[in-house]
Amino acid sequence: MQRQSPPHGASGAIPRQVAEDLVREAGAVAVERFTQGVEVTFKGWRNVVTATDYEIDRLITARLLQEFPGWGILSEESPPVDGGDSGLVWVVDPIDGTKNFSQGMPTFAVNLALVDRGTVVLALTYDPNRDELFLAERGAGASLNGKPMHVSSKTLVEECLIGFDMGYDNERAKQLLDFLGSLWPAMQGMRNIGSAALGLAYAASGRTDLYLHSVLSPWDFVPGLLLVQEAGGIATERDGSALAIGTHGIIAANAAVHADLMRLATGNPWQRAGLE
Ligand code: IPD
Ligand code: CA
Ligand code: CA
Repeated sequence: MQRQSPPHGASGAIPRQVAEDLVREAGAVAVERFTQGVEVTFKGWRNVVTATDYEIDRLITARLLQEFPGWGILSEESPPVDGGDSGLVWVVDPIDGTKNFSQGMPTFAVNLALVDRGTVVLALTYDPNRDELFLAERGAGASLNGKPMHVSSKTLVEECLIGFDMGYDNERAKQLLDFLGSLWPAMQGMRNIGSAALGLAYAASGRTDLYLHSVLSPWDFVPGLLLVQEAGGIATERDGSALAIGTHGIIAANAAVHADLMRLATGNPWQRAGLE
């Protein structure tokens, strides 16, 4: 059962307002550091992190703890905070698209969501370079800078511009590339976005018609899941099952394109890898 109204933060502000202020503040820090140039540390092959990821993590988590003591926090860059009986958890990706960020490419975002007893109720993906706020509240629709946004109205994959990202699992990434290769040239094009958060936000806003990924973490996809749903689309695991924390991949599109993609993926190794 959903709560009737969102609890307020310590300052009296509602979670949406705190979250919006926070992603804008975090985004301003990211852009300032971006223009100065950043030093990179490798977490793994291709997987990088910068001092700015940690700086923004500290900014966001400190503010959330101050405003909403007792609520949980699941951030990519710091140990989880248990939400106990509150049933509420903030999901945080301080910078999604760190590889782009570290290479001077301005396609990255601050990703933030609120989960209430397992249901995503608030989602924000903020692109500070373009000052674009993709926002959704459960049951209230999705918007881009305050204007309602919707998934595209295409019906077939061959009509689609497809967004995708490869992640850091080499085998799974190769399977996705092979699957995309099997679709080529029956599509309108492909874009390797470099930020799963923006990849999902672009699918939610109709800039792309479909978004695919093989291996995601909650902070990558939880905000985008609600953005896509509230924009009239669906987002599932590769085999069509529901997404859950600890999920693997994602197919996000309107219902018709999603069904066509599922048909085309039937029997392809990408669709079921790691799920059996
Ligand atoms: C990554 C980006 C990338 C996706 C990876 C994610 P990060 O997040 O979203 O596009 O392919 O799977 O881990 O490391 O930039 O926060
Ligand atoms: Ca991420
Ligand atoms: Ca990140």
